[in-house]
Amino acid sequence: HLSVQERIDRKRNAALIGGGQKRIDAQHKRGKLTARERVELLLDKDSFVEYDMFVEHRCSDFGMEEDHNKFAGDSVVTGQGRINGRLVYVFSQDFTVFGGSLSGAHAQKICKIMDQAVMVGAPVIGLNDSGGARIQEGVESLAGYADIFLRNVLASGVVPQISLIMGPCAGGAVYSPALTDFTFMVKDTSYLFITGPDVVKSVTNEDVTQEELGGAKTHTAVSGVAHRAFENDIDALLNLRNFFNFLPLSNQDPAPVTECHDPSDRLVPGLDTIVPFETTKAYDMLDIIQGIVDEREFFEIMPNYAKNIVVGFARMNGRTVGIVGNQPKVASGCLDINSSVKGARFVRFCDAFNIPILTFVDVPGFLPGTSQEYGGIIRHGAKLLFAFAEATVPKITIITRKAYGGAYDVMSSKHLRGDVNYAWPSAEVAVMGAKGAVQIIFRGKSNQAEQEAEYVEKFANPFPAAVRGFVDDIIVPSTTRKRICRDLEVLASKKQTNPWKKHEGSSS
Ligand code: COA
Repeated sequence: HLSVQERIDRKRNAALIGGGQKRIDAQHKRGKLTARERVELLLDKDSFVEYDMFVEHRCSDFGMEEDHNKFAGDSVVTGQGRINGRLVYVFSQDFTVFGGSLSGAHAQKICKIMDQAVMVGAPVIGLNDSGGARIQEGVESLAGYADIFLRNVLASGVVPQISLIMGPCAGGAVYSPALTDFTFMVKDTSYLFITGPDVVKSVTNEDVTQEELGGAKTHTAVSGVAHRAFENDIDALLNLRNFFNFLPLSNQDPAPVTECHDPSDRLVPGLDTIVPFETTKAYDMLDIIQGIVDEREFFEIMPNYAKNIVVGFARMNGRTVGIVGNQPKVASGCLDINSSVKGARFVRFCDAFNIPILTFVDVPGFLPGTSQEYGGIIRHGAKLLFAFAEATVPKITIITRKAYGGAYDVMSSKHLRGDVNYAWPSAEVAVMGAKGAVQIIFRGKSNQAEQEAEYVEKFANPFPAAVRGFVDDIIVPSTTRKRICRDLEVLASKKQTNPWKKHEGSSS
């Protein structure tokens, strides 16, 4: 007979090796780390506090009740720990136990940490690597998914939720990551899809590989399902640690302020000449953003999707900020369906989690055409407008060049409660560009060149907006960083509320 202590030790040791050395070796051979190795890398050394190592699945069909089919802790490792000293809850699916498939017990373990995370106010990180529903458990497993989905929804906007896909994630399983704030992937070893290549072939007769259907490239560049992809497990986990530092722990927590070694009054002389003299010539909005933020460090979200808008996190004098910028380098920085949706989701995240928003504007308008209109640019564009208008966090806007038409209104304008709105001398705030404007208002008339010159003189500059107070000041570009840092200091105590509502209506 074993003593209780011996039994405890035996179970703990069993839990530590999951599905056994052979399956661990197979995991490594695929270039993947085990669930536990991942947790170790993600969290500060020795900070992991594990829950539920003794939990086992309760299935008794298909021989599952036999001892060799029971694994201490089942197919997921859960608990809490620290990233740079800050609390986080983690679950890490263990592919070595029934392919990381989700049993009722597995779901229950995840729900336990999610509930506690919401109660104490700390983010949840999910490391996904799972063959989906535990087939032997049937509806019990489906119930487990729904329990998680419900918690994802209730936690949304309360604590940040991040998913890192590090292996398969298919079928119903995809909806948990989809409900979280950020989905990251590992290149070549992870995939997300509703149904795999075989089902696709039988339904639509398409031949497609797993990678083409749901790999990192597909989801970061084509579908917009994932926000970033990383080279391998280690690269992904280290990036996740870095990313975590930008976020507050909950919606009750201010965005973190870290020590800053980059002077807040640093001038950025390059900005005085960055906007080309010809208004149709492109430049890279990333150069402006990187020039202005602390240490040039910008964590871009969705860098390969809807590149006509740039979004991501950075710091200004140590304070986390969310940055949105039109990208003149891609489609002249036009707003279209994908960029509107990308921008809206980002702005809403920032607003939910007390992160001030900096908006850099150079937008010639919404992208014209049947494909955009048929795709619903009107309702999708409205999402970005909605997000900026509803946001009550500090909002600072810099018009670097064009701010045309409805897009001017949308991009965090004064009218949508922008707190500080600046124009650079190169700004043009107008209904449209000079050529198009003159063609309409002087249709069929001669001396259009003259009229165009008059239009440029009147409208293609920052004055019409400035005289009306729609921009607060016209600033020297090289002073932008200094101004923004000072403004953020002042706006740190900003309080603004929206009318009471159950939640937003159907328009967002
Ligand atoms: N339920 C129970 N066990 C599962 C499982 C599931 N959904 N998915 C995988 N497993 C088990 C396998 O039986 C195998 O067990 P073993 O180690 O005892 O041999 C182990 O997990 C690894 O699976 P395997 O198929 O050998 O790995 P793979 O890398 O070749 O393939 C998948 C991985 C996920 C593509 C494949 O297992 C799969 O298609 N699973 C089913 C996916 C599915 O349709 N799920 C339901 C949708 S919600």
